[in-house]
Parts: sequence; C-alpha cells; structure tokens
Amino acid sequence: MGVLDGKTGLVVGVANKRSIAWAIAQAAASAGARVALTYQGERLEENVRDLSAGLLDPLVLPLDVTDDAQIARVFEEIDRSFGGLDFVVHGAAYASHDDLNNPFVQTSREGFKLALDVSAYSLIALSRGALPLMEKRGGGSILTLSYLGSKRVFPNYNVMGVAKAALESSVRYLAADLGAKNIRVNAISAGPIKTLAAKGISGFSTILQVYRDRAPLRRTVDTSEVADAAMFLISDAGRAVTAEVLMVDGGYHATGM
Ligand SMILES: NC(=O)c1ccc[n+]([C@@H]2O[C@H](COP(=O)([O-])OP(=O)(O)OC[C@H]3O[C@@H](n4cnc5c(N)ncnc54)[C@H](O)[C@@H]3O)[C@@H](O)[C@H]2O)c1
Repeated sequence: MGVLDGKTGLVVGVANKRSIAWAIAQAAASAGARVALTYQGERLEENVRDLSAGLLDPLVLPLDVTDDAQIARVFEEIDRSFGGLDFVVHGAAYASHDDLNNPFVQTSREGFKLALDVSAYSLIALSRGALPLMEKRGGGSILTLSYLGSKRVFPNYNVMGVAKAALESSVRYLAADLGAKNIRVNAISAGPIKTLAAKGISGFSTILQVYRDRAPLRRTVDTSEVADAAMFLISDAGRAVTAEVLMVDGGYHATGM
C-alpha cells in the first residue's frame, strides 16, 4: 500500500530527468498517486511525454504559468479526468540570463517582473485554480520549491533570491488563507543541485563545493532526497504541517561560517 494510494496530483516544473519536480512526480506515482504533469512550451513536450510514459495513467498538459488561460485549462482538464485534486507541486522558476549575471543593482524592471511572475506569483495563481478541486476532496496539500538565497546572498542568485523571498512569504499567506479548508501550503528549501535551472547561475559549481565543505553532512543533496521530503509534506504524514519552509540542504542553513 502506498501513502498516496487513490490520490491525484498536479506537478508543474518538469523539464527533464534531472528536474526536482520529476523526482517528486516519480516518488508520488510510486506511492500510488495518479499524476498530471505539465510542460512549458513545445520545446519540452517530448521530454515530458517520454518521461511520463513510465507513470500510471498520467495526464500531460501544456502550461506556461504566466498565462491565466492555460492555467484555467489545466484545472478544467484535471477536473474532467481526476474529478478533484489532492496535491500540487510547484517547481517553476525563471529569471533572465542578464539578471543572473549582471550586478544585482542592474536588475531591470522587466526582469524583476518576469522573475517574480514566473517564480512567485504563479504559486498564488495555481493555488487559486486548485482550490475548488481540493475542496471536492475535503482538503489538499500545496508544495513549492525554494532556496536559501531568499534570505542570504549567494553570488549571481540576484533577483531569484528576491523572488524566493516573495515565494516563501506567499506560502505563509496562502497557508493562512486556505487552512480553514484543510489545504496546507509548504515549501522545501533544497540545497543546490545541478539541474537545467541551476545552469543559468554562473559560478554554481562553487556554490556546490561550499556546501560539500561546510554543510554539517559534508555533502550536497540529490533530487530523490528532496522527493522523499516532499512525500512527507504531500501525504497524510504531514497533515499538521503548514506554512512551513522545510530545509533539505544537509544542514547548510544552520552554519555561521
Ligand atoms: N537546482 C537547485 O539547486 C535548486 C535549489 C533549490 C530550489 N530549486 C527550485 O526548484 C524548482 C525546480 O527547479 P530545478 O532545479 O528542478 O530546475 P528545472 O530547470 O528542471 O525546473 C525549472 C522548471 O521551471 C519551468 N518553468 C520556467 N518558466 C516557466 C513558465 N513560464 N511556465 C511554466 N514552467 C516554467 C521550466 O520549464 C522547468 O521545468 C525551481 O523553483 C528552483 O528554483 C532549485
């Protein structure tokens, strides 16, 4: 028996097999859930369809989180196919190349809006879309992915750090808003992992090495470890946990130097 037997979920943010969202989708499917995956643009459709072939009866849908019409369509499709929703995993983030390379003071107005729209506002929009479907199930669990750059300065993380601060704050406000409907909202703050998104941050290998040198566990984390923590928050095991940012980073966040 899996901890997510009979549950249905939406996982946003799969680009390829290295995506954290993919590890979570796989773990959720192995735990018994039926999963809807989304892909951002035709460029990623084949990847996501190929990956999803290994899942139990998946739903695969296009979704650009900056497009309200696409968000509405995703939830209509899910309602039609699943008749409700138990969990949402939000793993979408984006900032422009310039804003991850230039000095932070040079962050453009457009770049700021884009990073905050894709990486933070989208959690609010997806939560709103999921709400009626979760109400049909008597509650649900919404999970997003953050990084310690929300609170501390990491080289070149720049506007993404600001977006993660907004994201973590949104987690708390959404949790307060939706708690009375038995909908929990949490984040996992993962340690650095080499994914497509991470490639956009110059000097990322240096960040990885600092974690290896200084984290209490003296290593970095991998996507399966983030997925295991996600299973706790998504499943009934985490039923009393909401408005939380769970650090899954080998303990790095606790270090002073
Ligand atoms: N890799 C890390 O070191 C790390 C650490 C902590 C948190 N995170 C966070 O984890 C999440 C997943 O990132 P990842 O590292 O697995 O990289 P990834 O590149 O595999 O995933 C990022 C996803 O965001 C999607 N995305 C970007 N713009 C979008 C849009 N407009 N609409 C819909 N989807 C969009 C991409 O298609 C991609 O699937 C992100 O929120 C990231 O910030 C990553």
